Amino acid sequence: MKTPTRHTVTAALPYANGPLHIGHIAGAYLPADIYVRNLRQRGKEVLFICGSDEHGAAITMRAMKEGTTPRAIVDKYHVLMGQAFQDFGIHFDIYDRTSSDLHRETSQGFFLKLLENGAFNVQEEQQYFDEVAEQFLADRYIMGTCPSCGNPDAYGDQCEKCGSALSPKELKDPRSTLSGAKPVLRPTRHWYLRMDEAQQWVDSWINTGVLDGQPHHDPKEWKASVLGQCNSWLKDGLRPRAMTRDLEWGVPVPLPGAAGKVLYVWLDAPIGYISATKHWAALRQAQGQPTDWEKWWKADDTRLIHFIGKDNIVFHAIIFPILLKMHGGYVLPQNVPANEFLNLEGRKISTSRNWAVWLHEYIERWPHRQDELRYCLATIIPEQKDSEFTWKDFQEKNNSELVSIIGNFVQRVMVLCHKFYEGKAPAPGTATPDDLTLWSAVHGNAEEVVRAIDAFRLRDALSAAMNVARAGNKYLSDNEPWKLVKTDPDRTRAILGNSLNVAAALSTVLEPFLPFTSERLRRMLRIDAAPWADALRSDRIGPGHVLGAAEHLFKPITDEEIQPEIERLHANAPSEAPPAAAPGATDGSPDGRSKPNISFDDFAKLDLRVGTITAAERVPKSDKLLKLTIDLGEAAPRTVVSGIAMHYAPEQLPGQQVVLVANLEPRKMRGVESQGMVLMAEDASGKLVFMQPKDVVTPGGEVR
Ligand code: MF3
Ligand code: ZN
Repeated sequence: MKTPTRHTVTAALPYANGPLHIGHIAGAYLPADIYVRNLRQRGKEVLFICGSDEHGAAITMRAMKEGTTPRAIVDKYHVLMGQAFQDFGIHFDIYDRTSSDLHRETSQGFFLKLLENGAFNVQEEQQYFDEVAEQFLADRYIMGTCPSCGNPDAYGDQCEKCGSALSPKELKDPRSTLSGAKPVLRPTRHWYLRMDEAQQWVDSWINTGVLDGQPHHDPKEWKASVLGQCNSWLKDGLRPRAMTRDLEWGVPVPLPGAAGKVLYVWLDAPIGYISATKHWAALRQAQGQPTDWEKWWKADDTRLIHFIGKDNIVFHAIIFPILLKMHGGYVLPQNVPANEFLNLEGRKISTSRNWAVWLHEYIERWPHRQDELRYCLATIIPEQKDSEFTWKDFQEKNNSELVSIIGNFVQRVMVLCHKFYEGKAPAPGTATPDDLTLWSAVHGNAEEVVRAIDAFRLRDALSAAMNVARAGNKYLSDNEPWKLVKTDPDRTRAILGNSLNVAAALSTVLEPFLPFTSERLRRMLRIDAAPWADALRSDRIGPGHVLGAAEHLFKPITDEEIQPEIERLHANAPSEAPPAAAPGATDGSPDGRSKPNISFDDFAKLDLRVGTITAAERVPKSDKLLKLTIDLGEAAPRTVVSGIAMHYAPEQLPGQQVVLVANLEPRKMRGVESQGMVLMAEDASGKLVFMQPKDVVTPGGEVR
């Protein structure tokens, strides 16, 4: 292993098919940003690459849904996403896009080189063709029943229910997602990557870290989940995989006789990292700074790191490395730190169900509060297992950690220095054992920040950084300078001098996580950013240094500010999203339950009653919703909109007794006002069943 002298850090190119939400941020972009910021603080040479993934079915299907062109979709979302990243303090060296000319040339050149190197088998095969839409059906354009689990809505490349990787011909009862037609088989020609030939070296590279007989990386540094997914692929045996598709939208296959074919999106997208690097170099060149892009990808002392979510693992840890190696001349990734998924308020984040906190909307509604969200997300990065964001947790962490720990420490130091010394830093005296303890806590925690970041344990790194503020608070509380000033002015000066320098150190250790706050803190202390080692010195702020005014770094968040966020989430979700994957998989509470305890009084607020369904009909233009009429023994029956149309036909329902939340705030869904909510549970097969009394109950009967 060569000692790395430069780092090329990539964050998965997000599909430009919708805005970014907090799941994207916590899963890849914030971890990457924290990592890069810390490397830069430590004086490392880093290039941070990202951009929009503008090809693939994700884009064309979105265009179909919005009734527009793929071009219009990517133009719209590329700008929106680039802006949101920028506003949120996630600063790439370049945020590029894969629909550019440079990218087309780069990926076509890459393909041709692979071809020349014998990386492909050309094969003619029968593939599904939609005779109504007159096109071949790649991957996501085809749906059917999963052969492993029976899910009727599995995609041609994957079943999202059981996670199996599929090929379209394995689906039972295939149907076209374009026209709904039953597809027919027709012959077509494609270029298959000879992944089978790579089986051996990939296996040894991943499991022993040895590449071409040389130590390349330490496999113990890779996450178990990444190794696990790779090994499950390796165990099945790597198989040739088609690198071309019969589609219009994408990078055209640069060969005669390949009209109507484009590169597979998972071939073109990762090459996007390389074209983005070239683009970045060209922009620098244009500014008069000659820049060589190649060393970032080809020099063997370059450390390549890919930040991704778990659904991207095999593409970055197996397929892209094979492509790089078969092309030749490129370094392979040193690590692929993949994260699990983030849930939201007990449910899976879902773009289609609008169950998400959108980044650009957060920035708009919480101006200048980027760090509050960065902090909360950094504490719940799904590093080992899925995790959960709730607005209450966001509020709680703001109030009891940002305000009470960081804010409180800085505020006390600043106010006292203004009060006692007219805003000038006092002279620290000779260090006492207490001072040495303080500084050893600062340095010990700062070292842990670095160790943890290098090992991609970013949650641990943040908690070590917070320990610096905790040590500062403890030092103040133990020494009580506000009292001591009356009896021992010399020692008081020393305490506040030390505390000011801890505040300065804090602006450094927190910077990767809270860049906006660090900047404000430095402005308050009137200091400049400094390299990591210098910044931790206990004499960075010397006697007489003039301080800025004391400001609050954070302010408490009230229930009145948080409640509307929870409400808007529910109001905007057209039907209730399903619960997050496995109960117990969240780490929101110690025993794995997804919700915290409530008081009896909270429970007593619920008005639960038994009602009888008297009529049911479909809600027009919705596949999911039924409009139920429910007799609760009241003067007028209730109208309730319920998301059960996939599970029950309307005619099955009259006469059924159900339990209703009778005092839920009425809410409009698809123009129908719903006056309550029917309680349901999911059975083993995923079907929703009613919670109903075993014996017939008079309508209106209370449930206690
Ligand atoms: N667009 C893909 C996704 O969102 C990620 C592509 S990463 C790249 O899952 F390497 F292909 F660029
Ligand atoms: Zn399945």
